[in-house]
Amino acid sequence: MGLSTAYSPVGSHLAPAPLGAGAAHRRSAQPHRPRRALLATVRCSVDAAKQVQDGVATAEAPPSRKDCFGVFCTTYDLKADDKTKSWKKLVSVAVSGAAGMISNHLLFKLASGEVFGQDQPIALKLLGSERSFQALEGVAMELEDSLYPLLREVSIGIDPYEVFEDIDWALLIGAKPRGPGMERAALLDINGQIFADQGKALNAVASRNVKVLVVGNPCNTNALICLKNAPNIPAKNFHALTRLDENRAKCQLALKAGVFYDKVSNVTIWGNHSTTQVPDFLNAKIDGRPVKEVIKDTKWLEEEFTMTVQKRGGVLIKKWGRSSAASTAVSIADAIKSLVTPTPEGDWFSTGVYTTGNPYGIAEDIVFSMPCRSKGDGDYELVTDVSMDDFLWERIKKSEAELLAEKKCVAHLTGEGNAFCDLPEDTMLPGEV
Ligand code: LMR
Repeated sequence: MGLSTAYSPVGSHLAPAPLGAGAAHRRSAQPHRPRRALLATVRCSVDAAKQVQDGVATAEAPPSRKDCFGVFCTTYDLKADDKTKSWKKLVSVAVSGAAGMISNHLLFKLASGEVFGQDQPIALKLLGSERSFQALEGVAMELEDSLYPLLREVSIGIDPYEVFEDIDWALLIGAKPRGPGMERAALLDINGQIFADQGKALNAVASRNVKVLVVGNPCNTNALICLKNAPNIPAKNFHALTRLDENRAKCQLALKAGVFYDKVSNVTIWGNHSTTQVPDFLNAKIDGRPVKEVIKDTKWLEEEFTMTVQKRGGVLIKKWGRSSAASTAVSIADAIKSLVTPTPEGDWFSTGVYTTGNPYGIAEDIVFSMPCRSKGDGDYELVTDVSMDDFLWERIKKSEAELLAEKKCVAHLTGEGNAFCDLPEDTMLPGEV
């Protein structure tokens, strides 16, 4: 496509910026997939800036494919002390659907240090489509113009095999929304194909310890497809975003109890990111007390609260005329922060994870939202000390049945034979109205 010409590199002779963890051990090109040229790279390097100041750079140096972009190379410098004493190794984060609304909120949070920390330099790798390429350039330009000191690289591309190379995190947002008259099974198939391809690309080129957060709907089953297509990456590393539902549940409980939402803890969303999801008020707490002690209106908890959370996405679409974007981006940031910072004592967070080996008796081999804790190392453990009652368990089983049905629809994408699609009638995304 020759799209790299969209940037006018002035420092092509400069030393490249330091790369992420696995950079020194790049895997060779994939036999089953042709490689494309990296479309455009925006980099900023302390060393590069220093070389400019020292006059090391010369006009005769051969052009490099990975270029330092214009003023971005020289707008800031770090004192050598800062670099050696307090800056961490670059974290490399790929974002798909990078030209979309959710990403437009998220990328600036990531670049600011709000998510990974104020001492964590970051590389952002933006994945888009041919159609969105110009918009991707616009996003990259806005990132440049923001002069974030922690943002060390920005690259844009349309080939996941290029964009995912050596990444530490994959935030998979891009997916087709369900249009009017479109069957849910068709959506599962279309989006499933995207996540099967991206799973293969992650398997081929990403860091072996990459953490993958699937946001594109139907996110639980898309995450399952993705992990099945990436057998060399631990299944435990794949997540489906249900943090938005947790945040919505916390807000509703706070409203009903007449407290600010920081008083609400231990909220689990069980199951699918759909209208069968189960916001758990049995184990949740307000000001450290069981919710049922604070909110005595059990009918409200069982009916109104549960439905409000399940259908919040749809109500938002009616108001906005499009699906939630800013709050989704906030919840993605929350989901990542929950994995890179230790979970507060006694609390937990919800995320959709692989069920095999779960202690609750939920069917194995699906992606189901459950309560988790983290030491802050990117990994997590399932919480074991949760209570169950008939109401909770019945609803968990309904969400489980839905996910098992979705799984059958995508058997052709998970390597499990022929698809057979017979979805329950009320199967809907939170945003479907
Ligand atoms: C949401 O929960 O707001 C979204 O998943 C809705 C949607 O369908 O995009």
